[in-house]
Amino acid sequence: MCGIFAYLGKKEAQPILLDGLKRLEYRGYDSSGIAIADGKRIEVIKKKGRIADLVQLIGPRQFHGRLGISHTRWATHGIPSDENAHPHFDQSQCLSLVHNGVIENYQLLKQRLLNFGHKFQSETDTEVLAHLIGYYYEQEKIDDPYQRLIHALKRSLKEISGTYGIALIHSDVPNLLLGARRGSPLVLGIGNDEFFLSSDVTAICPYAHRVVYLNDGDLVAITLDTFDIQSLNQSLNKSNNGFEIRDVDQLEMTASLKGFPHYMLKEIYDQPEAIRNAFRGRLIHEEATAKLGGLNMSPQELLRIERIQIIGCGSARHAGIVGEYLIESLAHIPAEVEFSSEFRYKNSPLDRHTVVFAVSQSGETADTLAAVKEAKRKGLKVLGICNRVGSSIARETEGGVFMHAGPEIAVAATKSFSSQVLIFSLLALLLGRLRYLSAREGHEIVEAIEALPDQVAEVIKLDSQVKELARKYVQSRRFLLFGRQFQYGVALEGALKIKEISYCCAEGNPSAELKHGIIALIDKSTPSIFLCPKDGVYDKNISNMEEIKARGGPIIAIATENDDQVAKIADEVLYIPKAPEYLTPLLTIIPLQLFAYHLAIFLGRDVDKPRNLAKSVTVE
Ligand code: F6R
Repeated sequence: MCGIFAYLGKKEAQPILLDGLKRLEYRGYDSSGIAIADGKRIEVIKKKGRIADLVQLIGPRQFHGRLGISHTRWATHGIPSDENAHPHFDQSQCLSLVHNGVIENYQLLKQRLLNFGHKFQSETDTEVLAHLIGYYYEQEKIDDPYQRLIHALKRSLKEISGTYGIALIHSDVPNLLLGARRGSPLVLGIGNDEFFLSSDVTAICPYAHRVVYLNDGDLVAITLDTFDIQSLNQSLNKSNNGFEIRDVDQLEMTASLKGFPHYMLKEIYDQPEAIRNAFRGRLIHEEATAKLGGLNMSPQELLRIERIQIIGCGSARHAGIVGEYLIESLAHIPAEVEFSSEFRYKNSPLDRHTVVFAVSQSGETADTLAAVKEAKRKGLKVLGICNRVGSSIARETEGGVFMHAGPEIAVAATKSFSSQVLIFSLLALLLGRLRYLSAREGHEIVEAIEALPDQVAEVIKLDSQVKELARKYVQSRRFLLFGRQFQYGVALEGALKIKEISYCCAEGNPSAELKHGIIALIDKSTPSIFLCPKDGVYDKNISNMEEIKARGGPIIAIATENDDQVAKIADEVLYIPKAPEYLTPLLTIIPLQLFAYHLAIFLGRDVDKPRNLAKSVTVE
């Protein structure tokens, strides 16, 4: 949510900034802008719309300078407009700032600055911060502009409440790039005679192989030949050498379309590999169990777990719902899923035998991060299921399981959902084998997990059939999705996919809820998508489908291969291979993702960057 990219080095900044912005565009695409310092002054150019609009505005112009900051915005305070686009100047127009996050007390600060005669060009909280730093810069009685700027920044950051990841430059100090973070991610990239700041490590990857993931409260001062990281949590001027320089796995970070028209479609097709990566090296055949070393828990500690609390947002929460069924049915441990945003403010009676699992692809979701901190504050053990190594949630948790799904660029989550569900199956297997599961059952689960990548690849072959279905139902602007038990989370996830990329109304429900109200929505223009593989609630689903059919509602069913009964009721059937019911969500989700994708394409939507959304929601 909002992307920051900044450069200081020996090359021209402009092309590097624009390239970095393109890599970060998935984080927000309401407006974008760059600021380049040429040694004397700072040139800012910004535009409402996509990066392509900014590039068009710049045209053949070259803004010379080897220091610059840039930003792609997801609007929080102030509508998407040229004025509200970042970077923002301070009053003197000498300081330029980009910001990701929310300054909660900006109104108060703005009023103070207005009283001092400041004039604002935008409605943003960011411009207020730029003015505040500029104001203190003018006030500080320090001769050296380098020290003066750092002091002004520290003073300002102490006064603001809220979250920020920022990068700023000042024309008085043309070889200084400053960055700071609290609650919003910021990564320092260390190249050869050049440095980068970015909200996301993937944008740095093509330029630098070594990075430092800044911690909350860190301030980094970068000059042409070195950098200094200080912690604002410590006294002024006291350096914190507690940072770690890490090598970036270039391969893991590479994201390219590989011939697909959209990242979402590519990522749907990535799923066999994403699933394989999630279990690679984690299954122990001899013991018919899973090995999850990253949990950092001994078998004795794992045996002491009495309850599992899962937290997450959006698709991650839906994966958690499938996880809840997996853990309860295979490991017999009570499990519960909560929205991160609700958990944070709720007084759930949890005790020290509860383990909290925070699920997050990006590892940066503000609500989940805040919930993790709250759970830790209450003394609970908190583990993560994250894709991004080095992300805030991965670092804030005591351990966990990395997904290794590779970068997910499309805003709509696809392979991360599958990867998270797979990891829950590993967790359930591990915990189950320590408790009630027999070796025979364990072996069956191991084998079923290993069969999944091929089965998922088989389901992906339904692509053209699903495309035709989407074409047929493109006029329907609302869809009802039904699933029970292991399929309930899938119904929710399928509905979310349809909503976010096609903008059609879609609602996921437990099938049996149909007669408790939803049935009133059934008519011939409202298709119901039924998840009814051969499982423990198959007959119940069949009855529900009959109820819909009796009222003239069209039915698209997702059923197990060789099931003739479903075909007699449903208008359309998509068949998936047979798998144990606890793993079937990894198969049934695929046609739903493909359906949402094709529906969105037929409706002319921007599939990878749907309106109003952004990947990685780093504001509350
Ligand atoms: C839906 C989607 C979002 C995310 C949610 C959590 O397709 O992408 O609902 O699942 O914002 O994001 P992470 O997993 O990064 O915490």
